[in-house]
Amino acid sequence: MSEVFDRLWERLAPLGRHRTTGGYRRFSWGPADAEVRAWFTESARALGLDVETDRNGNLWAWWGAPGPDAVVTGSHLDSVPDGGAYDGPLGVVSALAAVAELRGRGLRPRRPLAVTVFVEEEGARFGVPCLGTRLLTGAITPDRAARLTDAEGTTWAAAMAGAGLDPERIGADPDLLGRVGVFVELHVEQGRALARTDAPVGVASAVWPHGRWRLDFAGQADHAGTTRLADRNDPMLPFAETVLAARAAAHANDALATIGKVHVAPNGTNAIPSRVRAWLDARAPSEAALRAVVQRVDSAARRSAADHGVTLATYLESASPVVHFDRALRDRIAALVGGAAGPAPVLPTGAGHDAAVLSSAVPTAMLFVRNPTGLSHAPEEFVEPADRHAGVAALTEVLAELAGAGPEGQA
Ligand code: GLV
Ligand code: MN
Ligand code: MN
Repeated sequence: MSEVFDRLWERLAPLGRHRTTGGYRRFSWGPADAEVRAWFTESARALGLDVETDRNGNLWAWWGAPGPDAVVTGSHLDSVPDGGAYDGPLGVVSALAAVAELRGRGLRPRRPLAVTVFVEEEGARFGVPCLGTRLLTGAITPDRAARLTDAEGTTWAAAMAGAGLDPERIGADPDLLGRVGVFVELHVEQGRALARTDAPVGVASAVWPHGRWRLDFAGQADHAGTTRLADRNDPMLPFAETVLAARAAAHANDALATIGKVHVAPNGTNAIPSRVRAWLDARAPSEAALRAVVQRVDSAARRSAADHGVTLATYLESASPVVHFDRALRDRIAALVGGAAGPAPVLPTGAGHDAAVLSSAVPTAMLFVRNPTGLSHAPEEFVEPADRHAGVAALTEVLAELAGAGPEGQA
């Protein structure tokens, strides 16, 4: 099984990797995305799977007829800007390697089995994370999704059409979703909990509620060398205070808040900015704590904008409610993966996942594979080779159990 994983991994690894940073820039419907989608299609077909693209651009590689009551596993291949190699791809490559392992053991699933690649999980290009599964489940309207734009103003609809797909067909797909009996996503752990244990694989309990907000601070562009401080309407100042307010609000609520993306116009060294556009990412263990963080950041930003004669407009770009994964499924998987050593560790996460979005429609579970440093959304993200293989072994057992895999030829 490790040979199949290694071979697939080696072929995928160079695609979309930036030459100087070493990070991945795999953005939905761009050239690197086309390459990784082609890699998936070719790899899945080589394993004898039938690959289909659904109405929303997600890829499904079927072993057996598509549904009903299928066991589905997969993840995503898009990345954040300069992301790591594992966030997403580890789940896809492990899923394909698990299929190869089942085949290699002469097993055939009694339930249909599929490996999926969901589009725009990171929301790195169009702003809304898990867009492929939000569309599939109806958590976002096709109208709103079609009109989402990237930094250049290209819409989701236009980008999808550019990739040869029909954007008129996007939207909730109850027929396809109705064929899924259970979904399991394997993912690199994005923290250090497993690194402190002997367990290479853990199981998810919950995903924190989280969201993304855009803040537009608008002031007056002017000359940096001639405008008296008292005469300025500088949007950089309330922006800076908001960054610090976000940190303080997160601290006060045992939560997380990050401003990691900012656009400044006109972005000149010797010009007071006319506009600062910033994105707040906030996450918390409870909905109440999340609301408290966002309210505190919002009022600090408004107060500071008023103090500096700057206008502020805010927009909620995406909201992801708390998700508790199916408890019975989680416990069954933890027992299976942990084996004789006792149940595998069960842990919550602050990271969003397609499995969390799908949990509104089907029972879902997640496996986390140990990450020695916990670093993620960074080129240094890593999983030891032995742990990658342990992840494949765990997923293989889970799929065999859920799909009722038995010897080829037996009904
Ligand atoms: C996805 O990786 C997220 O931002 O949580
Ligand atoms: Mn991610
Ligand atoms: Mn991910």
